[in-house]
Amino acid sequence: MNDETWPTTDQPERLRDRIAAELTRTRRRSALLTEAVDDADLMRQHSPIMSPLVWDLAHVGNQEELWLVRDVGGREPVRRDIDDLYDAFKQPRRDRPSLPLLPPGEARDYLLTVRDKVFDLLGRVRFDDRPLTAGGFAFGMIVQHEQQHDETMLATHQLRAGPPVLAAPPPPAAARPVTGEVLIPAGPFTMGTSTDPWALDNERPAHQVDLPAYLIDAAPVTNGQFLEFLAAGGYDDRRWWSAAGWEHRRAADLTAPMHWHRDGANWVCRRFGRYSPVVPDEPVVHVGYHEAEAYAAWAGKRLPTEAEWEKAARWDPATGRSRRYPWGDADPGPERANLGQRHLTPAPVGAYPAGASPLGVHQLIGDVWEWTASPFRGYPGFTAFPYREYSEVFFGDAYRVLRGGSFGTDAAACRGTFRNWDLPIRRQIFSGFRCARDPGPDEVSA
Ligand code: AVJ
Ligand code: FE
Repeated sequence: MNDETWPTTDQPERLRDRIAAELTRTRRRSALLTEAVDDADLMRQHSPIMSPLVWDLAHVGNQEELWLVRDVGGREPVRRDIDDLYDAFKQPRRDRPSLPLLPPGEARDYLLTVRDKVFDLLGRVRFDDRPLTAGGFAFGMIVQHEQQHDETMLATHQLRAGPPVLAAPPPPAAARPVTGEVLIPAGPFTMGTSTDPWALDNERPAHQVDLPAYLIDAAPVTNGQFLEFLAAGGYDDRRWWSAAGWEHRRAADLTAPMHWHRDGANWVCRRFGRYSPVVPDEPVVHVGYHEAEAYAAWAGKRLPTEAEWEKAARWDPATGRSRRYPWGDADPGPERANLGQRHLTPAPVGAYPAGASPLGVHQLIGDVWEWTASPFRGYPGFTAFPYREYSEVFFGDAYRVLRGGSFGTDAAACRGTFRNWDLPIRRQIFSGFRCARDPGPDEVSA
């Protein structure tokens, strides 16, 4: 989805083809995730904070029906009777397994029926100036929504007990090690976007943010670095934790990232049903905000703000412009970033030199979602669109923003402006972090 080549409203045939391809590609991923297990497993709840996979599946179809078939298309409902069942706000997660959910076969039929109507609609729709249809926005929103649930389903797979059912080749090895920090000079940059056709409401509008100089880690914090924090007794040292963080660390008895287990003197981690040694040069994953914040304090650093993360990822020192990705505006390919569930682990730091920013910040996109210090808020001039429940109802101090996407995030739902958010205690997501700090007086170049 390159800004330069993205089909415009005066190229409706190209736009139609692109949308059709994205819808089809996305549905193949949903199919892969839900065909990997049997019907009983699809109906089961693998964790009280996750939905049964068959709920995610039918919810994806229901949102597609609501926004495309009914709203954009103005067609009759396919199944109005199931709207409440698949409304995330009406059904708390812990209750979802006891709902009269569509069994897998019916859910799949429902998705097929909806998708047929959507393709019929796509053949006739005019990409006019109405906000839902301009640039194919509603179709893009639905592609991203399904991809987001696919990542959630992948996280459910990671929580599932039993033998492995997913497989993928390992990520590329590091071309060369990446360590240290990068100085981002003081000055304004453009944060957010007003022009990206598929950008969601919380990424808008574009606005200027002026930042003092700061240092940001050239790569995400690795397992090896995180192990030093463990070895230094970081999980038992109140000094490094916020009050809320320490309270949670005690209540939840946190002693290591989620899915880590001791094996004699070593650590192993469980990934999608397989145990493997913790690899020192891979970004640490499955840590919560509180753990990230404690590590940063122990390291004499802090987490970057969301604005600092985005300036490092988008600001081009040569032109002063903000771009779509660290490397420019071109789509992320397999040589730039570990996205799209091509691999089932983060890649070692240094594996994507072609994805680095001009100043040398690596792996901002893909591998692990990166916790930032920022609470989730609307940008100046924010307007909820097309529904308050996508972002606005989550604004406030309870949630922290994560940036950059993980190995389980699809490229369609990942860009330099994309904002994810979660509660500081959550670690079932593919979350890691990098650190930042203020430069000392002798570290700012003139
Ligand atoms: C953006 C990942 C926080 O999964 O809760 C899916 C995306 N919103 N359906 C979530 C979303 C509605 C959302 N996150
Ligand atoms: Fe949803």
